[in-house]
Amino acid sequence: MNKKKSNSKKAVMIGCGFVGSASVFALMQSGLFTEIALIDADKNKAEGEAMDISHGIPFASPMRIYVGDYDDVADATIVIISAGAGQKPGETRLDLVNKNVAIFKSIIPEIAKRDFGGILLVVANPVDILTQVAIKLSGLPEERVIGSGTVLDSARLRSKLGQHLSVDSRSVHAFIVGEHGDSEVVAWSSANVSGVPLSDMCEMRGHYNHKENTKEIADAVKNSAYEIINKKHATYYGIAMSVKRICEVIMRDEKSILPVSHMIHGVYEIDDVVLSTPVIVGVDGIESDIPINLSGEEALKLKESADALKNIIDTLEL
Ligand SMILES: NC(=O)c1ccc[n+]([C@@H]2O[C@H](COP(=O)([O-])OP(=O)(O)OC[C@H]3O[C@@H](n4cnc5c(N)ncnc54)[C@H](O)[C@@H]3O)[C@@H](O)[C@H]2O)c1
Repeated sequence: MNKKKSNSKKAVMIGCGFVGSASVFALMQSGLFTEIALIDADKNKAEGEAMDISHGIPFASPMRIYVGDYDDVADATIVIISAGAGQKPGETRLDLVNKNVAIFKSIIPEIAKRDFGGILLVVANPVDILTQVAIKLSGLPEERVIGSGTVLDSARLRSKLGQHLSVDSRSVHAFIVGEHGDSEVVAWSSANVSGVPLSDMCEMRGHYNHKENTKEIADAVKNSAYEIINKKHATYYGIAMSVKRICEVIMRDEKSILPVSHMIHGVYEIDDVVLSTPVIVGVDGIESDIPINLSGEEALKLKESADALKNIIDTLEL
């Protein structure tokens, strides 16, 4: 069902605001695609972004970036949705639910009509709820509908830990799981630096106040979007690199383990809720859950995060 040959190197970006355009800029430099079609309710905005980003192509690899329409979805490998209102200072991601669900009700049926055979990547917030909405409204197989989830939050965590320990953040293996939002959970019990348990690594680097430091780092990560939005009204570069990374894993069938939002069935005692836990991702989307070790307290917080999302999903008329 919905499976057909797609143009093997085509992406469609729906929504060309801060996040959509920064992501296309990152994708243009990545060389992953030979064409990217841009769609936005504001066609002028899409045209301006297509022109501006295309002017960088002579410094990257040959490709086409152009304003498209929903027919472009039919042969795309990845369709990315960043359309939707962003958080205003003081707003939580969950405050965006009604506005952005309404936008998804206009976008997803257009995709469903095109017999889309690729991967749908949701970035707009609240990303977990909207990914669940996209699964329901599109009728696509669950494994082909992914949300960017806590890929960005986990990158923020690895970046902070890298600075704290003065080591390359790429050597830090640590996940944030649950909601991409206020109920997110740091999986401290599985965090390590190249196989060395995090607390041992902290002591090797002269840090002994584990409780204080982990709380400070978790709070800084959770609040970083609020802090950035207060200072510059939107966040987009970190998410753009996260989108690029997710696309890279799909396009190269890397089978990397990423904490993307996906439908969970019976893992960590969670059922029928979309949220982020580490999964193997490849060309066909989600391959399988990789349950990581969680302490009793972390597992409980993850369940609470799932319950918070489920309560909101249950209020939606889809
Ligand atoms: N998942 C993440 O980690 C993450 C990070 C940052 C931002 N976001 C989210 O991404 C979304 C976009 O943020 P932004 O800063 O780019 O906002 P923005 O306001 O700059 O851009 C939104 C764009 O969507 C377009 N749009 C609105 N309705 C549309 C429709 N029906 N069809 C097509 N286009 C439509 C608008 O014209 C606008 O260009 C927000 O929901 C924001 O919260 C997610």
